[in-house]
Amino acid sequence: MRTDTARTVKLAEYTPPAWIAETVRLEFDLAPTATRVLARIRFRKGTGGKLRLDGEALALKSAFVDGEDVRKRLEIDGEGLTLSGPLPDEFTWEAEVEIAPEGNTALEGLYLSNGMYCTQCEAEGFRKITYFPDRPDVMATYEVRIEAPKSLPVLLSNGEKIDEGALEGDRHFAEWRDPWPKPSYLFALVAGDLVSHDDQFVTESGREVELKIFVRPGDEDRCAYAMDALKRSMRWDERVYGREYDLSIFMIVAVDDFNMGAMENKGLNIFNSKYVLASPETATDRDYALIEGIIAHEYFHNWTGNRITCRDWFQLCLKEGLTVYRDQQFSADARSHAVQRIEDVAQLRARQFREDAGPLAHPVRPEEYIEINNFYTATVYEKGAEVIGMLRRLIGHDEYRKGVELYFNRHDGQACTIEDWLGAFQDSTGRDLSQFALWYSQAGTPKLTATSAWDAEAGEYSLTLRQDIPATPGQDVKMPMVIPVAYGLLGSEGQELVPPGLLVLDKTEETFTFRLPEEPVPSLLREFSAPVILERETSEAERVFLLANDTDAFNKWEAGRACARAALMEGADPAAYLDALAAAVTDDRQDPAFRALLLGFPSDEEMAAATHAAGKPVDPDAIHAAGEALREAAAERLEAPLRDLYAAMEVTEAYSPDAEQAGRRALRAAALRLLVRRPGGADLARAAAASGPLSEQLPALTALAHSGAEGADAAMEAFRAAWAHDPLVTDKWLMIHAMSPQPDALDKVKAIAGSDDFPWRNPNRFRSLIGAFAAGNPVRFHDASGAGYRFFADWVLKMDGVNPQTAARTAGAFETWRRYDVKRQGLVAAELDRILAAPRLSKDLGEIVGRIRKA
Ligand code: TRP
Ligand code: ZN
Repeated sequence: MRTDTARTVKLAEYTPPAWIAETVRLEFDLAPTATRVLARIRFRKGTGGKLRLDGEALALKSAFVDGEDVRKRLEIDGEGLTLSGPLPDEFTWEAEVEIAPEGNTALEGLYLSNGMYCTQCEAEGFRKITYFPDRPDVMATYEVRIEAPKSLPVLLSNGEKIDEGALEGDRHFAEWRDPWPKPSYLFALVAGDLVSHDDQFVTESGREVELKIFVRPGDEDRCAYAMDALKRSMRWDERVYGREYDLSIFMIVAVDDFNMGAMENKGLNIFNSKYVLASPETATDRDYALIEGIIAHEYFHNWTGNRITCRDWFQLCLKEGLTVYRDQQFSADARSHAVQRIEDVAQLRARQFREDAGPLAHPVRPEEYIEINNFYTATVYEKGAEVIGMLRRLIGHDEYRKGVELYFNRHDGQACTIEDWLGAFQDSTGRDLSQFALWYSQAGTPKLTATSAWDAEAGEYSLTLRQDIPATPGQDVKMPMVIPVAYGLLGSEGQELVPPGLLVLDKTEETFTFRLPEEPVPSLLREFSAPVILERETSEAERVFLLANDTDAFNKWEAGRACARAALMEGADPAAYLDALAAAVTDDRQDPAFRALLLGFPSDEEMAAATHAAGKPVDPDAIHAAGEALREAAAERLEAPLRDLYAAMEVTEAYSPDAEQAGRRALRAAALRLLVRRPGGADLARAAAASGPLSEQLPALTALAHSGAEGADAAMEAFRAAWAHDPLVTDKWLMIHAMSPQPDALDKVKAIAGSDDFPWRNPNRFRSLIGAFAAGNPVRFHDASGAGYRFFADWVLKMDGVNPQTAARTAGAFETWRRYDVKRQGLVAAELDRILAAPRLSKDLGEIVGRIRKA
């Protein structure tokens, strides 16, 4: 296994660069199996010493220092080269290498996707393009020349185009210059037969910016929404953060083969086509919302990531946590704050709490890694965003703005650390943030226990808050953190007995007292003010009261979840809960999107986590059966109001992806999910699945297929046939199969995966079928026979041979294996051991599976 020999990189071992690249000129001569890359780099002395450059899979053709051939002074190994002998304080390095984009299936560095050249350099892909100090604290300006056949008419790189023209033999060239110093991970190049959807933007200070979204011919009519989202993002960043765009052109390119969502390369964002292309027939409301959020995210990186970047990869949350926080704020402003918050928290709990509770737990700022690609995690991204939300809540909105302003002004053009970030707030507010900084270094989700007492005679209510932070790999002992707890105290009529406020718990335990006219029902951790697990003993009456009366939308929703969890875990009679739910979902004063969320029951995965946290054995079949029973009971008891809602929420206007219409469709779909269990419900679903925008068809088709209703197979087949030409829509069909709780789901998934025409090397296809099965179908993945585990491990290994990054990310589905019974644990252990014993195991997959196995 390679991980035994692979090097561990440590935060504590950071040293500043020995040599700093200041200007870079790259010349590309593109050819599928033999692309030539000439690099001319001006170096200046940093700490000095030997010149060490990173480089992987490069065939070096020539190397000069200030015009002198230095090939004899070079020592080349698998990870780079070292130049020995004396060097002046400044010099020019010039080297030519040959690379093969065509065989590059890992999708890192320069690769080919459907005949189009593109790059992915974050985190360490630039070293697969040329020899370079490939670390984010080396920032240089870049000039790029691209030569290619005219059959690739569009030639792009970062910055602004400075020249273009024809060359001999049906070839042409373009030259680009990026005036802003940047780290190598933000370099990008694209060459292909592309068309663009164009627009323009005038910045607040009056500068004109050309906007271009490049796609393959035929896709140009599916770019309008992404363009609209881009313009709104640009305006929002000016208005809310005072940040203007800084080049005369901003480009986005959609690519079909891509390891992640999108990449913020300076001036030339590259996107997974799934997060650009949308039309009412091919994208759901959720897809539109994701496109909006990701377009915003990548655009916002221009300031949080690009103008101010990370000193080293341990500081990844400096750009990612902040940028996620910013995109969440943007989406909340564009849609609904309450709905956005509930969705963000649901994500956080499903992905980050899960990670934090298992063998892959790590701090928001990790302290060591083997493969940095494995640390683009829910913890770094989502918990990183939560930490910023807490900071803002603690210091207040105005102080947050001032602190961010200071951060931008002080660090523009620099490669920074979390200390720099917190330092800006410390200096602008005068507060000591050293205890708050523990949120960056301590892993694990704190448990917040609340107990209360009411002294009727004195009219005194006391609330005791206690924090316990669980041990995580490598961290046995934790210190108390700063936990902001937003609260309200409700009277029997649902009124606020005191103005809603904020309690700050910064010790292990503290008691807060209030003088009140009556015993309150507390509403704690409103808006989910901290990423913690709140534990408080509540009665059913209290939960139902909060579901009916809480003025905080998040806690109103949360009260409903608590009711559902009690019904599922303790087998409590759900009647009172379901009646309160019926009242809440038919309350027309509430936003339909919010009501749709109220109608969603906890997933099997959520219940498995809750069962495990309560110290009970997790039985996936029993959990699934309990969920089915609750949904049956809900369908029966709410049938009449659900039928009314289904009729009332019909959207008769032309499709628009806006929040208002999407909310009505979501509520209608939530009603249909339950109604499909009632007589005549399948007829409704079959009718809805047959026509209309995808956002109406898909939930209906899913409800049919997952309930195994009559006609489900025919409807699935009709959908497949209608969309066989469109891979992004076909992915949705794959996901329905992958996530079906029906007993034959694995057989169907196996048949699809095993057919010769399944394009499994494409990460979107792989994730839609294999990934969705393991991560989104607990009852079938955890089949007691072990067949689900075996199937999944086979495919992870197969993917590792071509694309380690995607294999490793997908393998994270095994991280919860210690929750299950001894027999299942034995079955998983056997698969993990089989993976670890595989010949040519990648360092990506080796690290992830090794850590999971050690649990
Ligand atoms: N920085 C990207 C973002 O916006 C994510 C990213 C990291 C990425 N590594 C990648 C994207 C590799 C594609 C491929 O979050
Ligand atoms: Zn990002």
